[in-house]
Amino acid sequence: SNKNFNNFIEWLHPHILAIPVPAQGHVIPMMALSQCLVNHGFKVTFVNTDFNHNRVANALPDGQSHMTKDRIDLVSIPDGLEPGEDRRDLGLLTEAMRRVMPGKLEELIEKINGGDDEKITCVIADQGIGWALEVAAKMKIKAVAFWTASAAVLALKLNIPKLIDEGIIDNDGTVLKSQAIQLAPNMPAIKTADFVWACIGNETTQKIMFQFMVRSIKAVQVADWILCNSAYGLEPAAFTFAPEIFPIGPLLASSRLENSAGNFWQQDSTCLQWLDQQLPSSVIYVAFGSFTIFNQTQFLELALALELSERPFLWVVRPDITDTTSDPYPEGYKERVASRGQMVSWAPQQKVLAHPSIACFLSHCGWNSTLEGLSNGLPFLCWPYFADQFTNESYICDVWKVGLKFEKNETGIVLKEEIKNKVDQLLGDEIYTARARKLKEVAITNVTFVNTDFNHNRVTNTLPDDQSH
Ligand code: UDX
Repeated sequence: SNKNFNNFIEWLHPHILAIPVPAQGHVIPMMALSQCLVNHGFKVTFVNTDFNHNRVANALPDGQSHMTKDRIDLVSIPDGLEPGEDRRDLGLLTEAMRRVMPGKLEELIEKINGGDDEKITCVIADQGIGWALEVAAKMKIKAVAFWTASAAVLALKLNIPKLIDEGIIDNDGTVLKSQAIQLAPNMPAIKTADFVWACIGNETTQKIMFQFMVRSIKAVQVADWILCNSAYGLEPAAFTFAPEIFPIGPLLASSRLENSAGNFWQQDSTCLQWLDQQLPSSVIYVAFGSFTIFNQTQFLELALALELSERPFLWVVRPDITDTTSDPYPEGYKERVASRGQMVSWAPQQKVLAHPSIACFLSHCGWNSTLEGLSNGLPFLCWPYFADQFTNESYICDVWKVGLKFEKNETGIVLKEEIKNKVDQLLGDEIYTARARKLKEVAITNVTFVNTDFNHNRVTNTLPDDQSH
């Protein structure tokens, strides 16, 4: 009697449990994937840690805290740390998660499957938390690994056993031979010093993260699929080298995730009106993702560089972006730059990057930011900090050639003159923007369509002049 069309759809389609690594740069793409699945009629239960669940709920408009506007249930389990413990300490967090979360995930699935709701038929877990795939396998549920960064970096991780065999690293991930590794021609060359695990935290954290990665790559063997948020056209060599990785990207969240659950901070949309008032292709967008922390000296140098550049800029200054608690800006700075600079604590980044006033993206090269800039045809100024960001920089500057790198001085600081000069160089030469606009087509068009010559000519003759290929 209470059957309706929604019940029918729910009966027809399986119920997916999606579980991301508990970091902003992983939650956003997992949410974008969930949204795609929901748009195809699936039901998704999205599992955050309690800590992130609260952050996401606080960043949502009122009244939306437990269910996004579509069929995504937002639920949570503990991450194993106490409320006051430091979740930025990735070693500490990783070990606590490993201890507590598998059991909690199993309990959650048992609870859902024992209730009136449809049973969980598939677990999609971030490749970075292999234990979630192991839980699925143990419970005889289909398992899918989702890698939210580039195929090149995943290929490198899957290649860890070979790196050990060849004596390039030891069993702890410590680099034994300094060199650049290029897994195949046309893939970015990755310096051993830039290996993902080698640039996360201190030595102890690096070892913990490495062991965790080794376990996670073993766990991938139980997965039926390894999905990757990238496009074949962006990384043909990596996908050819590691054909087990399946590209499904770029998954962008912007239009689909409007006012939806995924952000840890509330987006400040006032900057969009400010962008409306700027000239086309005039604004430098400056953002470093969710994790990067600046020391005070470097922060001042960047602030002064933006002033020196005499161009309009929009700069995301997260409340926790510096290592000081006092006002980090140079004296009188905000007043001096007020006429052409905007600082916000968290921007609606994808809408910002799609805005016609943006000229370039000064970025830390997180993979999501990289995909978002590419999909909008923007050139980059690269300022990588850790994890996969150095490889992404190499893609941007050496492989796709749509950006420039900064040089640091002998004390490891990027000076204001260097920043200003690179901005001028990037925007002074149209080649970067021209290449970026071309690459946009590759990023968002993931299909090669083969006609017969005869029909190809007929089709192109019906197209407007500039669209023949
Ligand atoms: C982390 C790692 O640093 C990154 O290298 C890895 O590839 C993914 O995990 P993060 O540093 O947060 O991610 O960077 P990034 O991957 O760029 O993700 C940040 C996300 O936050 C992007 O989707 C971006 O659109 C969003 N964002 C950022 C906002 O919505 N507003 C902002 O103001 C800044």
